[in-house]
Amino acid sequence: MTRTVYVDGRYRPYAQAYVHAEDRGFQFADAVYEVEEVKGGLLVDERRHLERLDRSLAELAIARPMAPGALSRVLRETVRRNRVRDGIVYLQITRGVARRDHAFPSPDTRPSVVVTARSLNRDANERIAAEGIAVITVPENRWPRVDIKSVSLLPNVLAKEAARTAGAREAWFVDRDGFVTEGASSNAWIVTRDGKLVTRPADHGILRGITRTVVLDVAAAQNLGLEERRFSVAEAYEAREAFVTSASQIVMPVVSIDGRPIGNGAPGLVANALRRDFHRHAETG
Ligand code: PDD
Repeated sequence: MTRTVYVDGRYRPYAQAYVHAEDRGFQFADAVYEVEEVKGGLLVDERRHLERLDRSLAELAIARPMAPGALSRVLRETVRRNRVRDGIVYLQITRGVARRDHAFPSPDTRPSVVVTARSLNRDANERIAAEGIAVITVPENRWPRVDIKSVSLLPNVLAKEAARTAGAREAWFVDRDGFVTEGASSNAWIVTRDGKLVTRPADHGILRGITRTVVLDVAAAQNLGLEERRFSVAEAYEAREAFVTSASQIVMPVVSIDGRPIGNGAPGLVANALRRDFHRHAETG
C-alpha cells in the first residue's frame, strides 16, 4: 500500500509529498510538531496534544493554520487513508514559505502543514518493554526553551545516534549540575529505593510530555508517592527502577544506565503497573 501524506490541503502519495525549498521549517527549523499515539484506529490524548500545539505556536508566534476541529479531521483522515490501527500520527507546522531572511516574513505568510501516519508493531514494542531498554547519558546541549515542541531537534538526533552506537535505545541529557533533564525523545523517571516516583518538574528545561501528564494521574490512582524534583545521574544509578515515557513508547522500563544495571536489571514493578494501566487514564477518541 502506498503511504499517503497530507501536505498543505492535499493528500499526496508518499513519493510526491513535497514542501517548498524555501520553507522556513526546512531552512531554519522554524516549526513546531506533535506526535500522537493511534490505538485501535483512534487518537490517544488528542485534546491535550492540540492544546500543547497551540501553546508551541503561540510561544513562537506562528499563526494557527486552521481551526482545531479541521486539524483534527486531517489527522483522522491521514490515519484512515494509511489504514493505521496501532501506530503514530505526526503533525508539523512551519512558519511557511518565504524568501530566505532570518526575521519573520510578512504576517500573511501561510503556515505549512504536514501530517504523516504510520503503523507500529505493537507486539514488537511489548517485547521490548518486557526486556527493558538501555540508556546512556550525554551532556545537555540544547537551547533553554525545550518546553516548546519545536522541530529543532539536532542535539536530540545526535544524542539518539550516540545511544544507538552504544547499543542503547535512549539518551538522557544531563545538565551542568549533574541532574537529568529528559531523554532525546522521552521524559525520564526513577523510582527511589524507598519506592518514591521521581520526575523533573515541567519547567522550561523539559518538554511537558502528554504521557508524563497522564502517568501522573495513573500514579495518583495507584497511590504512589510522587516527588516532582530534579534527580542526579548518581541517584539514577542507585535507583530501584527507571523508565521513560513518550507517546510512542508509553511507559518503557529502563534496565541499565551507562552500562550499570538498574535495580535487579529487569523491568520494575512500578513501571510495569503504570504501563498496564496507562490507557485506562488516557483519553481515546
Ligand atoms: N517525543 N521529551 C522529548 C524531548 C520528546 O521528544 C518527547 C516526545 C517527550 C514525551 O512527550 P509525549 O509524552 O507528549 O510524547 C519528552 C515524541 C514521541 C517524538 O519526538 O517522537
